[in-house]
Amino acid sequence: MKKFEGKVLVVGATGRTGLWVVRRLQHYGIEVRAFARKADKLAEFRNLEVSLGKIQNTSALRSAVSGCNAIICTIGASELIGEASPVQVDGDGIIRLVDIARENDVKKFILVSSIAVTKPFHPLNLFGGVLSQKLRSENHLRSIYGKDGFTYTVIRPGGLKDGEPFKYQLQTGKGDTISGVIDRADVAELAVLSLWTKRVENETFEVIRTSPAEQKSLEIYLEKI
Ligand SMILES: NC(=O)c1ccc[n+]([C@@H]2O[C@H](COP(=O)([O-])OP(=O)(O)OC[C@H]3O[C@@H](n4cnc5c(N)ncnc54)[C@H](OP(=O)(O)O)[C@@H]3O)[C@@H](O)[C@H]2O)c1
Repeated sequence: MKKFEGKVLVVGATGRTGLWVVRRLQHYGIEVRAFARKADKLAEFRNLEVSLGKIQNTSALRSAVSGCNAIICTIGASELIGEASPVQVDGDGIIRLVDIARENDVKKFILVSSIAVTKPFHPLNLFGGVLSQKLRSENHLRSIYGKDGFTYTVIRPGGLKDGEPFKYQLQTGKGDTISGVIDRADVAELAVLSLWTKRVENETFEVIRTSPAEQKSLEIYLEKI
């Protein structure tokens, strides 16, 4: 039996974490639809359903979420101003996506955010107030999901690295007190596991890597939240 029945929309699918999310969903045999500005970065995938659009475009988002049972959102800003800026992507964009997902009956929303979102004076926030924008959209998600059969999980990773999955032990935390780094591949695996791990329903947690050690599964870390 599949671990998760239904279709998962990956928003930010062409990003470095998003690509790993698509890979891990396909590994588990879960139906995927990728939301992307351009399809060319998804060329490695066979039989992948792609829904083209920008996070600014309400009608593109409506058609992307239609018929999906869950969303994994790994979208993030890459420029200070314009359509890939913190305010338009991490703030307004994710808030728009949350509202449209809820209106269209998408029951589960997994958001990849960041450690230090509760620390406005953290140096990372110098990049267009990105941490404050992420906290704004996190708060919106928590206020809209988490009731009436709609669930959320907010994953706040440390600084992102590009290693292979399952190579490190992990440490989780709550209350935004830990700092460190983690591989995007492991963040993606945790996001996918969050689809069916009851323990992290309606939870917000931070996660970093600790010692190098081959991991069979990352499920134990979610069960400890
Ligand atoms: N960098 C870090 O150390 C760090 C630490 C903690 C958390 N995070 C957060 O973790 C998440 C994943 O990070 P990452 O480094 O894997 O991300 P990334 O590689 O920069 O990918 C960002 C994704 O967002 C998409 N995007 C940007 N603007 C868009 C728009 N207007 N419409 C639609 N899609 C748009 C990009 O699409 P294109 O491919 O078309 O550009 C890409 O798919 C982000 O939220 C990031 O802020 C990062």
